[in-house]
Amino acid sequence: MSISRRQFFKVSAGAVAVTMAESVLACGSLRTNGMTQAETPSQSPARHMQEERRSAAGGTPAAHSGRSFNPLKERGMPIDQQFRNWAELVGKPYDAHNVPAYTRTRIILMNGIEVEAAVFSHQFTRHTNDLELRRELALTRRIEQQQQKAIAGLIPGEETTLEVVIGYEQLAVDLTAWLARHEPDPYARQVYEFGLLEDFDHLYRYADLLHFTQGKRAEEIVDRLTEIMPGRPTKLEHRHPFDDVRRPVAGAKAHPLTNLQVLTLVAAEQQTMNYYMNVGNRPVEPIARGLYTEIGQIEEQHVTQYETLMDGSMSWPAQLVLHEYNECYLYHSMMEQEEVPRIRQVWELHLAMELEHLRRAGELLRKKDRRDPEELFPQALPVPLRLEPNKEYVRKVLKEQVQLTADGTEFVSMGKLPANHRYFDHQETVNGIWVPTEQVIKQHIATKGQEYRFQSEGEHPVEEMRQAKRLG
Ligand SMILES: [Fe+2]
Ligand SMILES: [Fe+2]
Ligand SMILES: [Fe+2]
Ligand SMILES: [Fe+2]
Repeated sequence: MSISRRQFFKVSAGAVAVTMAESVLACGSLRTNGMTQAETPSQSPARHMQEERRSAAGGTPAAHSGRSFNPLKERGMPIDQQFRNWAELVGKPYDAHNVPAYTRTRIILMNGIEVEAAVFSHQFTRHTNDLELRRELALTRRIEQQQQKAIAGLIPGEETTLEVVIGYEQLAVDLTAWLARHEPDPYARQVYEFGLLEDFDHLYRYADLLHFTQGKRAEEIVDRLTEIMPGRPTKLEHRHPFDDVRRPVAGAKAHPLTNLQVLTLVAAEQQTMNYYMNVGNRPVEPIARGLYTEIGQIEEQHVTQYETLMDGSMSWPAQLVLHEYNECYLYHSMMEQEEVPRIRQVWELHLAMELEHLRRAGELLRKKDRRDPEELFPQALPVPLRLEPNKEYVRKVLKEQVQLTADGTEFVSMGKLPANHRYFDHQETVNGIWVPTEQVIKQHIATKGQEYRFQSEGEHPVEEMRQAKRLG
């Protein structure tokens, strides 16, 4: 049985889209500076959450389906009912002061997933002359774009670019760590752990920039759920491009979870790469511009390393099914974990849409490749992805792997590389006379007397990286 748009909005009486449409059309005067009366600081966060919970009545059948949920069997919302009007799309942003850190990171993740959905669909379109296929892609892509707008619009304008960056790097740390902990393929797991330590270092460099330029402590943004201290130093992450190309492990013979996890990580890193490409020239301070430039190049390396785990021989229709299946898996996962009811309803609504995208992509696979989607994907969703603290795990990986670099497709200790390795030549070229990620720490020490760190679990696990430096 399919869910109609009318039915969906009826069961989800508190759906953010409907709430927003109503507040824009009927109660526009209540909104000042992007905040409604319900979110004014005079109201306690607990009371606010209670009210949101009360408004979250009902849900889709998917919301109550548990872990045996099979997206290939469920019917979603008919495609012609999926379009929303502008008032429905421009939702009420979250309250930057009260939003849980993992709600913020879930929004960043799903924004990146929708960007990937749209970009992939454009690429597919450029690789076929089939008019019917191009129309089908244009149709679902327009919905993916609406979903992206609805999610991106949840991030409030009050959050500065740099505060948003802290969310991006927290996501990179806790998403990569969770994926590594659950990855069935040992090589893919090693690749994730390698990348994890680099994004962990980015979080620390940006947190120091935030503290000395805006006086804000990043631990308050990450809700103290992620530690902030040096990882693999960014200046050592600059490798020759050949050394970021990995071996393909995904594909028809891979564990289905590997295929999903690799795609998720590609989309998340691509989103970070794109974000730094776009916002890197917005700050005035040279040190901030330098940080975006240097770290932005590492995100390019990360996209390269994760996308080269993918199976380049997979057909375009099969890749489309993989994308839609992954969107179902992730919205279902987000929905299971989401603690803010009105955000949860966005995940529910989008899941209902993705189920129909998946069904249509499956039809396309049958028609074009003469294959059933059931051959490629499991009949029940894997364990739901969770964003949660990974402090002990990150500390263990730090202690054991901080000294690693890549040599071709494999990982080795930096000290084992021959002196004439391309790694050293490349570093000398790009680091030249100025390394912004080192400078930012020096500047922080110069202005504040010591580094900014947030170490809730004790000393740094790597002895040489212990103790924030002090002046004098
Ligand atoms: Fe989507
Ligand atoms: Fe990063
Ligand atoms: Fe990254
Ligand atoms: Fe989709």
